Amino acid sequence: MADYVGMSAQLVGNALRFGWYSGVHWLMDRESARLGATPRYKPVRPMPSREELLADLRRLLLTDAALVRDGIVPPDDAGPGGIGDHLGRIRAMLADLPGSIGRRESEETRTAEVLADPTGLPSYFTQDFHFQTGGYLSSDSARLYDVQVETLFHGSAGAMRRAALWPISEFMRTRDQRRMSLLDVACGTGRLLRQVRLAYPAMRLTGLDLSTAYLAEADRHLGRLRPVTWLAANAEAIPLPDSSQDLVTSVFLFHELPPDVRRIVAGEMARVLKPGGRLVFVDSVQMGDKPGWDGMIEAFPVRFHEPYYRHYAIDDLSALFKGVGLSPVSSEIAFMSKIMSFEMPIGAARGTA
Ligand SMILES: C[S@@+](CC[C@H](N)C(=O)[O-])C[C@H]1O[C@@H](n2cnc3c(N)ncnc32)[C@H](O)[C@@H]1O
Repeated sequence: MADYVGMSAQLVGNALRFGWYSGVHWLMDRESARLGATPRYKPVRPMPSREELLADLRRLLLTDAALVRDGIVPPDDAGPGGIGDHLGRIRAMLADLPGSIGRRESEETRTAEVLADPTGLPSYFTQDFHFQTGGYLSSDSARLYDVQVETLFHGSAGAMRRAALWPISEFMRTRDQRRMSLLDVACGTGRLLRQVRLAYPAMRLTGLDLSTAYLAEADRHLGRLRPVTWLAANAEAIPLPDSSQDLVTSVFLFHELPPDVRRIVAGEMARVLKPGGRLVFVDSVQMGDKPGWDGMIEAFPVRFHEPYYRHYAIDDLSALFKGVGLSPVSSEIAFMSKIMSFEMPIGAARGTA
């Protein structure tokens, strides 16, 4: 039976999140101006109108609520940690603003590796992504990451991430979750894995990330839910056997990888997929996906330290995944993200990057 009560709760929750984070976004902009940040870059390419943005966001939130109506996932409870914990994170994000603006203004992008030991980590990874203090290397950064991303997307990041459940639930329709395994590559703070765990309590879940600080936050976020196996490892060399996973997911990773590394990681994801298994990929929309929005794609890496985003925005993802032996299954746009799914054909040669 359709769960219209749950669906309404999800819609109300998402509307409240949008209102709250829009307020925080406004506050961050005001504080940035007060602290002397350079005014926003004005892109040459076209920008969507406010009405277009809101219409697209509404579409995303309605589809997100349909996941609850159809019983795939319960309404988003935002995880453990109450309002006090949340407000503490917002306060810490505001307190961090002078530091991140200072780095943006002086174009400093290598401070994280001074604060934390970067030994053994690839140099593309130890940069100050988003100009955030500590890059991906500190627990303070792990604590702030989600409120920063939600503020950027006016509270819609969770819904964009949960869109991965559209192709996952389609794949799971004919399968027994007790026999299924899923690996989330670059799981970060575990926001997707919590949703997958709520949707499929019996599935075998593994989260891999190169940041031990982010994995610790992910473990905290899963709370008392059935445990996930955490792997502190490089996605370029996934420490799992060939053909061991039914599902592999990757959310908001590829735009942060150099082009050659993107291909190596895709090869690794293909290698660990079982024949007939699915890769579900979520990342930013690319140039031309919505031509009227290309200005946003142009502006994003100017405002935030995203050294590989410009190349990501024009990379041929279909060819990239085809090159490692995967066949396309679906591709959809969800507000500012695209969700693509691929299958490892039965009997195909694997992981040939
Ligand atoms: C933008 S965050 C996305 C995190 C998460 N998937 C999400 O939905 O928010 C990028 C993540 O990729 C991780 N990462 C970057 N390069 C990596 C690599 N080579 N191997 C494993 N993790 C990596 C970072 O530590 C960070 O957690």
